[in-house]
Amino acid sequence: MSKRILFVCLGNICRSPSAHAVTRSLAPDWTVDSAGTSDWHVGEPPYGPMQAAARARGIAMDDLRARQFHADDFDLFDLIVAMDADNLARIESQRPAGNATPVRLFTDFDGVGAGDHVPDPYYTRDFDGCLDLIETCARGLIETD
Ligand code: 4NP
Repeated sequence: MSKRILFVCLGNICRSPSAHAVTRSLAPDWTVDSAGTSDWHVGEPPYGPMQAAARARGIAMDDLRARQFHADDFDLFDLIVAMDADNLARIESQRPAGNATPVRLFTDFDGVGAGDHVPDPYYTRDFDGCLDLIETCARGLIETD
């Protein structure tokens, strides 16, 4: 079954575009998008060091541009996946009345319940560790389909 999945982080230049690019490469029949809860980087491509780390493992995301999460997204996707609890709360605060679209943490799909968030490499500078976790969670998400 194909699915419509939206990944959401804060800036939409590191974690969610990476999740977007990894998931579309693993599940090409799914509709995948990403967004940020902030408007800080709207229109920008993913962060250069994030792109470079992804490119080194064969994952392209240079076509992506940041956009802000919008309440309409609740009606456009089957599942919304947040990178951390802060962003999940920001998403939930915009839920339209009567909408029942699930919003989950990406780490819910890590297979072991090891973490509660995807650490932000914009601050940690651990772009490879971020991609490792994203690849694990993306595979878990696809397997639960
Ligand atoms: P992201 O990381 O939420 O994974 O895209 C960030 C990128 C930029 C900023 C914060 C987080 N910033 O403060 O500009």
